[in-house]
Formats: sequence, structure tokens, C-alpha cells
Amino acid sequence: MKEDEKEVIAKRKLDGLKIPLERNVQARTTSTLLECVHLIHNALPELDFNSIDTSTTFLNHRFGAPLLIDAMTGGTPEATKINANLAAAAEKLNLGMVLGSQRAALLGEDLAETYRVARKEGPNIFLAANIGGAQLARGLSVENVKKLIDIVKADALVVHLNPLQELIQPEGEPTYKGVLERIRELTKQLNIPIIVKEVGCGISREVALKLQLAGVAAINVAGAGGTSWAGIESQRAQDANVTQKAELGEVFWDWGVPTAAALIEVVKAVKVPVIASGGIRTGLEAAKCIALGAALSGMAYPLLKAAVVSKEEVEATLNKIILHFKATMFLVGAQKVSELRNARKVITQPLKDWLG
Ligand SMILES: Cc1cc2nc3c(=O)[nH]c(=O)nc-3n(C[C@H](O)[C@H](O)[C@H](O)COP(=O)(O)O)c2cc1C
Repeated sequence: MKEDEKEVIAKRKLDGLKIPLERNVQARTTSTLLECVHLIHNALPELDFNSIDTSTTFLNHRFGAPLLIDAMTGGTPEATKINANLAAAAEKLNLGMVLGSQRAALLGEDLAETYRVARKEGPNIFLAANIGGAQLARGLSVENVKKLIDIVKADALVVHLNPLQELIQPEGEPTYKGVLERIRELTKQLNIPIIVKEVGCGISREVALKLQLAGVAAINVAGAGGTSWAGIESQRAQDANVTQKAELGEVFWDWGVPTAAALIEVVKAVKVPVIASGGIRTGLEAAKCIALGAALSGMAYPLLKAAVVSKEEVEATLNKIILHFKATMFLVGAQKVSELRNARKVITQPLKDWLG
């Protein structure tokens, strides 16, 4: 039974890597709306580019730049190299990383190793464990959550909310009743912070307020405009001839709150740090998110493409993003990240409509 379950999970995890790498499952008709955020150019920055400090602090950890490698993988042999490459680059650049959904690690030492490798390659990084909200609702025990945290010596636990994905996934279980209560319970029983994220449909102000009240330490809005999990699951359903689910995924491909809209409304609504992710592809976009009040900007897909190549490729990709981030800081006259947060910006339509 366990062996069967292991095989099914490992195959699903492999699909979750291969489909985004080999087919276009990015947003089609929606965007992050970050193109509607304009930072005001400062022709008199009064600082030297080389004196710019991109470092920041997040949940008591020092980061070399406010960038996070967002949750991706684990649970299939192919994930070992990817997690190793991501973590090694994070270690070199002093950035944070979130592991992919980790329940598979409970199914055997071989699968646990596909996650543990991240801590081996990134002994000093801010590393977050990851479980699904639906798994909590279905009864994943606190004891097992603690095991998952322990496997990677995690600094935080990420709980991902993915109701749309569960709905479209051929073997998905859209069971969300009681999730918030389980999150509340975990915040009391774990001695590390809990971060709640979406997977590309965004978090609204109403949901953010509930999460804050439940005791979460940070929220990652993971909005629409980047990788579409409705798209990935729709493709999987099509491959498995599950037509109804494939169609559902097509219809809801671009569902969700665009990243910029989710970020602005959640930052306004809560006091806990907010992470921006979902469709962030450049250092300029990452900087716009910080200027909108994000504590960190997260990226998944662009780093996956690099991680299948080598740790040097991940490092080069991140260095390019940091360079463009730093260029933005220079051009708005911000020497420190805290000054970037105060940069003046103009917000145009259609993002303005979202802000009502
Ligand atoms: C290959 C891949 C696997 C992912 N797996 C997970 C996961 O296991 N858990 C999770 O919370 N999010 C997962 N995500 C979602 C990302 O963390 C992120 O929220 C989303 O992809 C949007 O970011 P992006 O547009 O930069 O890819 C995954 C994304 C990708 C591309």
C-alpha cells in the first residue's frame, strides 16, 4: 500500500516538474499587474551604485537581498538535484528557500532524502518546510508535521492553500473544511513560525485577516500572473483522459487575484510581513513588490529552469535578478531596502480598478 502510494506521489511530483518545464503553463490572459506599478525615476540619486545595500531581515534572519526561492519540489528522485542546486545557490547568496510539499517525506527514507539535501547544501539558509492545507484538513497529525520540520531542520513551516489545484488534479481531494482551525492549532503547537501561501491564485484581504487572527507569522500572497496550477493539472488530466477535469482547468486557467492587487490589499490589511510571489520574473518586478510593501519577493518557475541545469546556473540567474534589483534601487535613490519601501510610485489602470 505504502509502495503504491509512494509511486503515485513520485509520478505526480515528476509531472509537476516536467509539465512546467516542457509546456507553456504560464498565465494566458491575466498578468501580475506589476506593469501598472511605476516607480518614479530619480535623476539625482545622490549615492554610488556600489554603496547600495540590498540586505534585509525577515523573521529574525538576515538575507543578502529580499528574495525567496519559492516552494517547488521534493518527493521524486529528480528533485534531489534540483533542491541541492537551489539550496547551494541560496547558501552562496544568503537567500531563503521554501521546499515543495513535503508529505511524501513520510513515506520513506529515500523520499525524505530528496528534501534533506536542501539542508545539507544550505546549512545556514532560511529554509522552510511545506505542507498542504488540504492535508491538514484530512488529518495530518501535529506529530507528523514536526517530523517533516525535523527532517530539514526548518526555520519556518509553510502551509500552502491550493483549493483550485485540488479541484482540478485528477487524484485531488478538495477538502478544505476545518483548515483554518488546524492552522490555528499548529501556530500554538510548533515552536517555529508559520507562513501561509497560495500557489498562484492569490490571497485576499479577508483571508489574510483570518490568517493573521489565527496566529500566522507571515503571508505569501502567491498571486495570479505566473505559473498556473490550473494549467498544470489541466494538462495532467488531459494526458490521463480525464476530460471533465481537463476542461475545468482550461476554464479556470487564469483564475485568481493578480499578484500586485493581492499584495497591495493584504499589506494594507495586516501587520504581519507579506511576501509577494506569483509571476515575478525580473529584479525590477521584485523591487516594485518591495516598494509596494512586501517583505520579500519570491520566485519559482524561473529558478526551476536554472536548477535543472546546475547550481552555477541558479546562482547566475539570481545574480542577474539581484543586479536588476540593485539597479532599480539606484534609479529611485534608495541606498537601503527600507528606502526602497518609501519610493514614490504611480498606479495605473487596470490595477487601480482592483484597489477600488
Ligand atoms: C514546478 C513547481 C512546483 C511547485 N510546487 C509547489 C509545492 O509543492 N508547494 C507549494 O506551496 N507551491 C508550489 N509551487 C508554487 C510556487 O511556490 C509559486 O507559488 C507559484 O508557482 C507562483 O510562482 P511563479 O509564477 O514564480 O512560478 C510550485 C511551482 C512550480 C513552478
